[in-house]
Amino acid sequence: MVLFVTLGLIGGGLAAGGFVFNHEQNTLKVGSSAVKKEHMEHESWNAVVDNYVYIHNAFRNHLAYIRKGCESGKDMSKEFALWCKILELHSKVEDELLIPALDARLKEQNADNGSDKLIPEDILSGKDHDKVHDLIEAVSAMIKETNPDKGSLVSKLSELETALDEHLLQEELYVMPLMLKAFTTRELWALDSFIVNEKLGYCDKDTLIVITKWWFGNISIKEGIPLFQNFARAGNQAPMPIEDWKKLQDTIPALKPFATEDIMS
Ligand SMILES: *[C@@H]1O[C@H](CO)[C@@H](O)[C@H](O)[C@H]1NC(C)=O
Ligand SMILES: *[C@@H]1O[C@H](CO)[C@@H](O)[C@H](O)[C@H]1NC(C)=O
Ligand SMILES: [Fe+2]
Ligand SMILES: [Fe+2]
Repeated sequence: MVLFVTLGLIGGGLAAGGFVFNHEQNTLKVGSSAVKKEHMEHESWNAVVDNYVYIHNAFRNHLAYIRKGCESGKDMSKEFALWCKILELHSKVEDELLIPALDARLKEQNADNGSDKLIPEDILSGKDHDKVHDLIEAVSAMIKETNPDKGSLVSKLSELETALDEHLLQEELYVMPLMLKAFTTRELWALDSFIVNEKLGYCDKDTLIVITKWWFGNISIKEGIPLFQNFARAGNQAPMPIEDWKKLQDTIPALKPFATEDIMS
């Protein structure tokens, strides 16, 4: 399985993480202000923390690194292109898989429907992602120029950092706790497995290798170690009955075209 290929790379990834940690431990973001004790003690914590904390911090840390590179006049266009590619994939997975499944489940559970039980409107509609996307387009255009105006590029990058951080924090504050409440632990791992299931076309093996290196290289070793453990957990899940896969599949329009057997992993 793809995961085992990836696990082989993680040793190197962790070493890279350690290297970064030694040099930049004061600047790498760790954790989230949205995370409370009750989340960390929740039985499904490990099944949400990768996608709602660790990867978010990799996006923040790598973008800060790109901005600093631009500040010192380096050509960061390739780094930025990679950052964009991974963020677009992450956002696509949220818009097509995670949010539709969560929205459907919350409607089904409807029992207590106060406003804190709902997905924020701009996350549900995808508007939050559009806002970040517009700034990405602006930065992309500038960073590709032969001699970009450093001042405007850096200030646009800072604007993007702020908008991204606001967006990620919304997801950490509102979506992450709802995921914990709405799904079983096994279902959360199943949702996670869709991202790397090659049959579904989100992330092929080569992309997974690139993302894994990027991920471990852009978080603190404090998050790299539990992330490594979660990769192993993800690969060691007990089988889930096909009816339960079908139940998830039925709530996700993007998975409708697939045979249920193909979404199982
Ligand atoms: C919650 O749902 C019930 C029944 O579906 C409805 O009567 C009530 O107005 C809803 N409350 C809120 C805050 O949406
Ligand atoms: C982040 O990931 C990229 C791509 O793997 C890498 O070039 C960069 O050095 C990493 N680390 C930091 C601190 O940005
Ligand atoms: Fe997002
Ligand atoms: Fe996210």
